[in-house]
Amino acid sequence: MAQLWKGRFKKELAKETNDFNSSIKFDCRMFEEDIKGSIAHATMLGSAGIIDKSESEKIVDGLSQILDDIKSGKLEIDMQAEDIHTFIEGELTARLGQTGKRLHTARSRNDQVALDIRMVLKKEIDEISNKLKELISVLCTKAEENTNAIMPGYTHLQRAQPITFAHHLMAYCSMLCRDLDRLTDVKRRMNVLPLGSGALAGTTYPIDRNMVAQALGFDDVAVNSLDGVSDRDFCIELASALSIIMVHLSRFSEEIIMWCSWEFKFVELDDAFSTGSSIMPQKKNPDIAELVRGKSGRVFGDLTALLTVMKGIALAYNKDMQEDKEAIFDAVDTVKMCLNAFTPMIDTMTVLKDNMRNAAAKGFINATDCADYLVGKGLPFRDAYKATGELVALCIDKNLTLETLPIEEYKAVCDIFDEKVYEAINLEKCVNDRKAIGGPTAENVLAQIEKARKIIV
Ligand code: ARG
Repeated sequence: MAQLWKGRFKKELAKETNDFNSSIKFDCRMFEEDIKGSIAHATMLGSAGIIDKSESEKIVDGLSQILDDIKSGKLEIDMQAEDIHTFIEGELTARLGQTGKRLHTARSRNDQVALDIRMVLKKEIDEISNKLKELISVLCTKAEENTNAIMPGYTHLQRAQPITFAHHLMAYCSMLCRDLDRLTDVKRRMNVLPLGSGALAGTTYPIDRNMVAQALGFDDVAVNSLDGVSDRDFCIELASALSIIMVHLSRFSEEIIMWCSWEFKFVELDDAFSTGSSIMPQKKNPDIAELVRGKSGRVFGDLTALLTVMKGIALAYNKDMQEDKEAIFDAVDTVKMCLNAFTPMIDTMTVLKDNMRNAAAKGFINATDCADYLVGKGLPFRDAYKATGELVALCIDKNLTLETLPIEEYKAVCDIFDEKVYEAINLEKCVNDRKAIGGPTAENVLAQIEKARKIIV
């Protein structure tokens, strides 16, 4: 396909140059936004009297037909074109002749591409936000079913203090709610119209940028034309928000992988979301969680690519910036794919409450509560801590737990112990006493669930 910029050139473009230069293979996904942006631009050109109203109407009709034809499959996008902008304008001119050639008045591909990416990414943010909301909703339901499922909470991957599975799940919910908030924020800053910045220095035509902004749902217009065409902060910000989402999904995946192991056996994944081994008949592998954990690397790579592409280029547009699309689209697609697989995996997993409860009973996770019991009887915390440490060592020697250690042994270490200690170290009580906001009691967790559900409506 012919280039739009042929006038100055005497020779045809070398095939290698065309292949290298062309972005159609990855910017073709912006066809709808490119056409809608052009429709708004052409309408404005007509209304501002920059082109004839009748020609503007013909252009708008022509563009609408091209959009329908691409959507219905009647018109195939030419993969030899330089980019989607060239293809659409070329097709319009092929259909309308001279009138089609007026579309690009007061515009450059530099502000056009900046517009298109923003429009595409705004839509993608909405889609990803909805997927995050689905995951949050699944977590809330799972948590609601498990407010009394006691499990060991860990630090250093060592059993630490008793919590509930619901509380643990809702920790991820808090992260995902922040992710949602970050996406909203990114979208707000992205929602500024670059069109009208021209190639770099604005335009001499009396354009109405606010009219275009309004037609395309932008809150504002870019106030500096150089920045308007050369800003890709919104790609970097989105890739960064997506990277943080992947950090969360990856940490969650790591826990799912551990919980599925025979060593933990806290959950069992549904057959539909696990895979087998080609040689070991007994295997049921958490491949989805592993792949999500692995794919986080891709998204971080996309963010690094964007930062690196942008860091050294002088104002305003440079062709380096064409690299933005593959990186940000890959990040968007990867996150969507991960969420599509991850959410139903969580939704269908079976929670093995008894195994969690058994694990909680074995790791001295009520030792802090035992010390707190002594504090309640007047002992300074440091002394209570030391006495409890001695009791733990005694239990390990005798292969007992704090629950099964006889009261005489308690008294031998510290004579203020009495039978009530068994009540104090009861795991249910240990959880239920952690009443301060943010703690694992059922009441607190239900409040977290209620708050999260309000966020996702
Ligand atoms: N395909 C180009 C890109 O993605 C469109 C802008 C081209 N502008 C230019 N001055 N060559 O960045």
